[in-house]
Amino acid sequence: MLIDRTRLQAALATELARFAETHPRSHELFERAKESLLGGVPMHWMVRWAGAFPVFVTEAHGAYFSCVDGHRYLDLCLGDTGAMTGHAPEATVAAISEQARRGVTFMLPTEDALWVGEELQRRFGLPYWQFALTATDANRFAIRLARHITQRPKILVFNWCYHGTVDETFITLRDGVAGARTGNLGPPINPTITTRVVEFNDIPALEAALAHGDVACVLAEPVMTNIGIVQPEPGFHDALRDLTRRTGTLLIIDETHTICAGPGGYTRAYGLQPDMLTLGKPIAGGLPAAVYGFSAETAARVQASIRTDESDTGGIGGTLAGNALSLAAMRATLEHVLTEQAYAHTIPLAERFAAGVHQVIAEFGLPWHVNRLGCRAEYWFRPTAPQNGGEAAAAIDGDLDRYMHLAALNRGILMTPFHNMALIAPDTTAADIDFHTDVFRESVAQLM
Ligand SMILES: Cc1ncc(COP(=O)(O)O)c(C=O)c1O
Repeated sequence: MLIDRTRLQAALATELARFAETHPRSHELFERAKESLLGGVPMHWMVRWAGAFPVFVTEAHGAYFSCVDGHRYLDLCLGDTGAMTGHAPEATVAAISEQARRGVTFMLPTEDALWVGEELQRRFGLPYWQFALTATDANRFAIRLARHITQRPKILVFNWCYHGTVDETFITLRDGVAGARTGNLGPPINPTITTRVVEFNDIPALEAALAHGDVACVLAEPVMTNIGIVQPEPGFHDALRDLTRRTGTLLIIDETHTICAGPGGYTRAYGLQPDMLTLGKPIAGGLPAAVYGFSAETAARVQASIRTDESDTGGIGGTLAGNALSLAAMRATLEHVLTEQAYAHTIPLAERFAAGVHQVIAEFGLPWHVNRLGCRAEYWFRPTAPQNGGEAAAAIDGDLDRYMHLAALNRGILMTPFHNMALIAPDTTAADIDFHTDVFRESVAQLM
C-alpha cells in the first residue's frame, strides 16, 4: 500500500494545527526566544523539530517529561541516547549533587577515575582509557592519535555515518563519487583530502580503499544507527578487522549509540577487537562526559610518541575533560544505572516495540520495515532492511517522517528526531510500549 501524498499533506496540516493549538505557552516562549537566541533556539538544529516550534520542557523523570503547556510525554527519544539511563536517575543525581558540593573541576584526578577505568576495562576488554566531554571530542582525539602513531594522513568512514561534528566524517558518496555531505557548514577543506568513504558491508570497496596504505584508521559504528539501523552482514566485522590489521590501519569502534546492545556495547556482545573505542552520551547519565579506550599495543605506541613537555598542546584534551563531576556521574551511572539488569528489562521491551510496529505494518500492508539493536528500534520507509547507508538514505521521506513524529507528539510520545527511532529506558514499561503501538496504528490509519 502506497501513501497518498494529498492525504498525507492534509493529515500533516491537521497535526500542525493541533500542535499549535495545544502548545500556546511553548509558542509564546519561542517567539520571545527569537529576541535573544539565534533562530529562537539554544542550538541551531532545534528548529528542525516536527512542529512549527519546539516544545519547552519543565522537567523529566524516568521515561517521561513534561512541558510548559502542562502535557506529559512518553520519551522514546531520550535526548538521542544522552538520557538512555532514563531522566534524572537517582544514583547519578545523588552522586552529582554530592560531588558538586565537594568541587567540580581541578585539573587533578580523583579516585573515581580509577574506578571508572577499571570498570571500562571489565566491560569492553580494552586496558587503557582517557576522558573527554563529548563523543565528538572522543572521536576527534582518537582520530588525531591514530594519524599521529601511524603517520598516515587519511581516515576511512562509511557512507552516511554520523560520529558527531567531526570535520573528517562529513563526506558522502553521490553516484559512487565522494564529496562533502550536503548541509555541512564551512568545511575547512574538501573532505576527500582527509577521508576515504565506502559503503557499509562493501568488503571489496573497503579492501581497495585501504590498499592505498594512506589510511590511519577506520572510524565505524559497529552497526550504523544514524541513517536508520544498518546491520553488518555475516562476516563483515571479521573482514573489517582482518583488512585493517593487514594494512596497518587502526580500527576505532564508536559505541556511542550501540551501547544499546548491552553493558559492554556491541564490542563485548559480539567479541570485536578494536584498537580504540569511543563512547559518550549516556555514560554519565547525560552529564557531559565521554571516554576513549586503547588496546595495549595502541596505548604503548601512543605513550612512546608523546613528549611530556608537549602533552598539553597536542591537539587533544580540554580543560574540563576528566573533571571530578563527570567522573562521579560516570561511576554512579555505570555502577547503578546502565547495569546488566537494566538491559535485561530494556532489550525485551525494544523487541516488544518492534513486534508491535511490525504487526501494524503488516495489518496495513505498508512497504515499511522495522529494525532493532538491543534496546533501540527504528522503522524505515522501505520494505526491507537496508544493506548500507546509501540505500537507507534513498528511502528518507521528509514529509512522512514529519507527520509520523508530529502525530506521535500530539498523542503524547516523543520519537528521536530526523529518523523514526525509539530508545527504551530502564523505567519504560510494557504498557508504554503498547501505548506507542496504539498511537502508531492510529497515525497510520489516518493516512489510509
Ligand atoms: C555514533 C555517534 N558518535 C558520536 C556522536 C557525537 O555525540 P555528541 O554530539 O554528544 O558529541 C553521535 C551523535 O549523535 C553519534 O551518534
